[in-house]
Amino acid sequence: MPKKLYIKTYGCQMNVYDSERMAEAMGAEGYVATDTVEDADMVLLNTCHIREKASEKLYSDLGRLRPLKAGKPDLKIGVAGCVAQAEGAEILRRMPLVDLVVGPQSYHRLPAMAKAAEAGEKTVDTDFPEEDKFDHLPDRPTASARPTAFLTVQEGCDKFCAFCVVPYTRGAEVSRPADRIMAEARGLVEKGVREITLLGQNVNAYHGAGPGSDGGGDWTLARLVRALAKVDGLERIRYTTSHPNDMGDDLIAAHGEEPKLMPYLHLPVQSGSDRILKAMARKHTADTYLRLIEKIRAARPDMMMSGDFIVGFPGETDADFDATMELIRAVDYGMAYSFKYSARPGTPAAEKTPVPAEVADARLQALQALITEQQRAAQRAMVGREVSVLFEKPGRLPGQMVGKSDYLHAVHVRTDARPGDIAKVRITGSAPNSLAGEIATK
Ligand code: 5AD
Ligand code: SF4
Repeated sequence: MPKKLYIKTYGCQMNVYDSERMAEAMGAEGYVATDTVEDADMVLLNTCHIREKASEKLYSDLGRLRPLKAGKPDLKIGVAGCVAQAEGAEILRRMPLVDLVVGPQSYHRLPAMAKAAEAGEKTVDTDFPEEDKFDHLPDRPTASARPTAFLTVQEGCDKFCAFCVVPYTRGAEVSRPADRIMAEARGLVEKGVREITLLGQNVNAYHGAGPGSDGGGDWTLARLVRALAKVDGLERIRYTTSHPNDMGDDLIAAHGEEPKLMPYLHLPVQSGSDRILKAMARKHTADTYLRLIEKIRAARPDMMMSGDFIVGFPGETDADFDATMELIRAVDYGMAYSFKYSARPGTPAAEKTPVPAEVADARLQALQALITEQQRAAQRAMVGREVSVLFEKPGRLPGQMVGKSDYLHAVHVRTDARPGDIAKVRITGSAPNSLAGEIATK
């Protein structure tokens, strides 16, 4: 009987990608994935540290695993991801049922740690090792049969926004070599992947070394996108998450020139107040952001914009918040994520006096109402239009498939199309979180 591995993934898409790579690494050791935690021989929690709530989920989930472990003493429990990196051995002290703690740069060492756990030895690895984990992970042996895939091209962040733990948990900015990324992408496409989303905490800061280069880091994200666009069978390219200050002219130009690069851009600004942006150490203003978006829309007029916002950053006044609302009105987002500021230990902003919770709550509600309005309007504006849809899986109703449009809207269509097919679809209706459509031409 093969051993069974249950992985729970919290947080961002980078963790989703990492979980796949860890499952593959454990697969090489004879573990098969299971969706049923009760069946597992090993449970791995791949955690997120970005906000307090995300972080605390680890401990409540570990608490819930106690009875399972009590009835199954051979069950091994591992903690991976950013909480593992941030808290290390403290997790073992607080939760003795945990067998191993592994940080995001040490995933290639997980199989050895699992073996140690089987032998009764607890291990913690939160190194930033010399070697590149990607050189020591298996070459995507079980990579998805799904038509879309994530591909991490860059990790870490050197920006040190005053609120953010990423530079501490994920470390300094590192770009993977372009030839490795190209090889991984080709491998995914051979397995049927039609759309790749390039991932990085600061993906548009990508500056990997190209093939034959001596590690000079002469590539940009735009160059990578253009190289990937030449891969036959790869039909769509996306990337996330970008920083406004790394939005190079070559990348903006690629949006106008490269049809495989999808017209959807997640470009967090966090606040519309220059005073708060300065306190956040964002190193851009509301105006530079707005002008950047004008430039992007000049290259690609139908660009669907997405963003991230933090409300209640220490010192945020009503006027600061109004400036954020004004910026949102000016940009007109198709989608956005918004969060109440959460003080993270070790970050500069955590020292400052917080905005009262009820003020932050009210601001978050107002902001989310505006975003929802914009999102619904963007969806309604699709009705009557023809978009391309990449079908991913069967829909809820019989005979129905669900896929994503170029603009990342979920679209339900009655069709005999199969996962991986791309079709022109005429949008016929808009529901709160998805669109309905019918096949226009194949
Ligand atoms: N509190 C609230 N939101 C945060 N984010 C990052 N750090 C914090 C924090 N301390 C948000 C930012 C970022 C997104 C991934 O999470 O908006 O873009
Ligand atoms: Fe965090 Fe993004 Fe700022 Fe880096 S750029 S510190 S990841 S919010």
